[in-house]
Amino acid sequence: MTEAKLEAWLDERRAFAPSAEFAAQANAQSSIYEEADRDFEAWWRSEANRLHWDTPPTKTLEWDLPFAKWFSDGTLNASVTCVDRHVNEGRGDKVAYYWVADAEGEMRTITYAQLRAMVCQAANALTELGVKEGDRVAIYMPMIPEAVVAMLAVARLGAAHSVVFAGFSADALSSRILDSDCQYVITADGAFRRGAASPLKSAVDEALQSCPNVKAVLVVQRTGGDVHWVEGRDYWWHDVVDRQSDQHEAKSFPAEQTLVIMYTSGTTAKPKGIFHTTGGYLTQAASTHHYVFDVKRDTDICWTAADIGWITGHSYIVYGPLVNGVTQVMYEGLPDSGGRDRWWKIIEELKVTILYTAPTTIRTLMKWGPELPDSHDLSSLRLLGTVGEPINPEAWMWYRQHVGGNRCPIVDTWWQTETGAILVSPLPGITATKPGAAMHALPGIYVDVVDNDGKSVGNGEGGYLVVTKPWPAMTRGIYGDPERFKETYWKRFPGVYFAGDGAKRDEDGDLWLLGRIDDVMNISGHRLSTTEVEHALVGHPAVAEAAVVGASDETTGQAIVAFVTLKLSAEDANKDQAPLIEELRQHVAKVISPIAKPRQIILTPDLPKTRSGKIMRRLLRDVAENRSLGDVTTLTDPTVVNMIAGLMTTSSSEE
Ligand code: PRX
Repeated sequence: MTEAKLEAWLDERRAFAPSAEFAAQANAQSSIYEEADRDFEAWWRSEANRLHWDTPPTKTLEWDLPFAKWFSDGTLNASVTCVDRHVNEGRGDKVAYYWVADAEGEMRTITYAQLRAMVCQAANALTELGVKEGDRVAIYMPMIPEAVVAMLAVARLGAAHSVVFAGFSADALSSRILDSDCQYVITADGAFRRGAASPLKSAVDEALQSCPNVKAVLVVQRTGGDVHWVEGRDYWWHDVVDRQSDQHEAKSFPAEQTLVIMYTSGTTAKPKGIFHTTGGYLTQAASTHHYVFDVKRDTDICWTAADIGWITGHSYIVYGPLVNGVTQVMYEGLPDSGGRDRWWKIIEELKVTILYTAPTTIRTLMKWGPELPDSHDLSSLRLLGTVGEPINPEAWMWYRQHVGGNRCPIVDTWWQTETGAILVSPLPGITATKPGAAMHALPGIYVDVVDNDGKSVGNGEGGYLVVTKPWPAMTRGIYGDPERFKETYWKRFPGVYFAGDGAKRDEDGDLWLLGRIDDVMNISGHRLSTTEVEHALVGHPAVAEAAVVGASDETTGQAIVAFVTLKLSAEDANKDQAPLIEELRQHVAKVISPIAKPRQIILTPDLPKTRSGKIMRRLLRDVAENRSLGDVTTLTDPTVVNMIAGLMTTSSSEE
């Protein structure tokens, strides 16, 4: 890449207009914003017609700030809307999922009719185990079709699922089970990653030692490894699900029935149980899937390369695409399971048309070289998306050129676990996109960028992103903690939703999302709180104090850097500390998840604190990123940071 070319790419006003051909056939036409603005509630009411309602709603929005209800007098069944209705309308033979295993050559094709049968059997099995309307069921599973079936079966019974990412530890799982009092767990014996089996059920067993209310555990056999078994509590999926009838009469539930609980990190050590209800969440998941990805039900093959353990998987592997009745690819493995060109092989083989993934993955694929995508036929692709973190212009351009053949529009979609669905994104066919900008709020969504006092900033200025009107998929709150919900999102700027993200409007008025402005880190698109990692570290007997920051990282966006003071005896102080540093990293992996393992741990005799005793994280971030240190006069002991900066350069704990 020549320097001049790079400069042109990095020019933030450079925009890529959609082709006339794409624009002519796009699902969204430019009048859509005006239509929605005329009466945003009426617009969302008409979008709700994407669902199959048993009782169509007459009410649209009831807004008692910050608590919203949407379509509250409507009734429906989420799994019927996602599955049965397609079969009933004659599309039972259409493929719902091409499931691609971690191992090359292993694949399953599941039609909508088969999916319905699987969901009905699972719903019957869960009923036999005692699951009822209003219960909470934890799901801790790898990316296998049964994970989707489990979610839909729980939803079919009017219960709520709390899917916990299978990379989380036993401790993280048990705290989530306890917080929303899940009485049932659905899991697998293990998972495959790059051909190797790793256990999952053992983490459930460990977690359940502190969860006495769990009545039953349903276990899919995926790897065939040895498992510990508790008679009367544990049930094999193949024993109880496979013998059930594939018919199940679904009841209808109110639109505001809780469907999803999803834990996400906030600024405290305790993750928040964000919950979503049925009618509004499904409406917006389906609507955004339709417009943002421009999906054509009969021809597209959509691949959201994410895990169902995160909200992206919920909204764009399960609910949005299924409501819209499309064919999808669901992939079990890692980007390099079976070789570094695995993704490109999958796209070529299955003729994927729409690909949606995170910038971190794009940067990883980019590192592996353009010759890998270039040597595969990716001409089936017609649209690309990104989510989860800001995308740097170089990665955006690489994605456009080497994956999208300079032909596919790229949608940079901004949203959060709390928003349930995409709020800010270009619309393909309408928006001229800029590398790294999420551009505009979607039709029917109203956002602003405000300064410290809550006043809108002008073009060319930055501030905080807020959402100024309610939206259908907005979280209905934090499970069991309405006060924390108000405090976290609605207090900073009264009357509007505070997302916790920095944003700027460029000279053209287009939006750029800049990442978190609070103590939440974004590691490879995964949200983690600094406090949560600090808590894990101080839980280790050798640690006295810990301060954690997210430092920029070329591949993962941010990486965790921890500054730790030890409780050391004089004798221990003279030892080589490298094994202890490794032990601390493993300790964090065990308490939270391997994704929370610090990239670097710096042992220091002291931490920089203000006179009131607060750790100066801003300074530590500067140290971690080798920036020059600004004003240190408020510190009790300014020499501490210089000492830490010195330690930083000599530390060698990086992987
Ligand atoms: O900081 C923003 C970042 O991811 C956060 C939400 O994380 P989570 O709830 O885990 O959901 C991720 C998947 C929706 C946001 O507060 N984020 C998400 N999308 C973008 C983004 N940052 C910049 N650009 C995006 N497109």
